[in-house]
Amino acid sequence: MEEKTCPSAELFFKREFKKHTGIKDIRFVLAIGSGKGGVGKTTVSAILSLALKKAGYLVGVFDLDFYGPNLHLVLGVNKKPMVEFGKIKPVSSDNIKILSLALMIAEKEPIFMRGLMASKLLQELLQKVEWGPLDFLILDLPPGTGDIFLTMLDFFNPEGFILITTPHKLALSDAKRTLSILKEKMVPILGVVKNMADFFEDETSFQDFLNEQKLNVLFEIPVLKELSKTENLTEVFESSEKQKFLETIAEKVLDKVFRIK
Ligand SMILES: Nc1ncnc2c1ncn2[C@@H]1O[C@H](COP(=O)(O)OP(=O)(O)OP(=O)(O)O)[C@@H](O)[C@H]1O
Ligand SMILES: [Mg+2]
Repeated sequence: MEEKTCPSAELFFKREFKKHTGIKDIRFVLAIGSGKGGVGKTTVSAILSLALKKAGYLVGVFDLDFYGPNLHLVLGVNKKPMVEFGKIKPVSSDNIKILSLALMIAEKEPIFMRGLMASKLLQELLQKVEWGPLDFLILDLPPGTGDIFLTMLDFFNPEGFILITTPHKLALSDAKRTLSILKEKMVPILGVVKNMADFFEDETSFQDFLNEQKLNVLFEIPVLKELSKTENLTEVFESSEKQKFLETIAEKVLDKVFRIK
């Protein structure tokens, strides 16, 4: 008898999909942003990198928060990127490639940079970095919609923006401003990640926000109590229950990506 696989299982195993970028070697750019700072962009970028890697995809993550780079900490990475013939090779850790200014500049060094310098630095990095083949390049964006954000939009023209927010009114207010820029620039929004979903009680504001913006929740992340003991998400997501969670969110994101024509 022919064995039937359920649709989600089919989705889960690595599948070829259309190259959506004009960038050499990179199949899809997923931009992870919010309006407000501290709502979980870096956390979600790291969780998504673990989820898509688990689903069999080649993943790179670019820490674009030049003023507060910390993606390397949540992925437990502390190696310097190699520079060969003027090209920067991102650090590879547990099959995820990472590029962050934090890995190039000592922690105690202050990062002084005016907006213009930051976008110049971004342009320089973009010219020099060699990711190698990637199915997904995840961009961990800085808070707000400043120079780095705008340069990123111009360069990557991302096919998928994931908006991170908590259900708190302050976060939603900032998120609306970011969304208005994304709409003007016609950036497709894959959905909203409701972070720390179980911590906030005011569901009405959040639902109103979704209705008003005509957006859906892509997935929710509860408060991860483990983060009070460690910052390393690779450790937090080791348990079989958390591995299952990674599978669920990878399915949700892949389902959206595969539907893009
Ligand atoms: N679901 C969660 N459960 C528990 N703690 C969380 C959760 N999401 C994020 N945090 C914690 O909240 C803080 C801010 O998260 P994170 O750094 O991911 O936000 P961010 O949006 O990237 O911030 P920034 O705007 O500064 O870049 C961190 O200490 C992180 O560990
Ligand atoms: Mg961050």
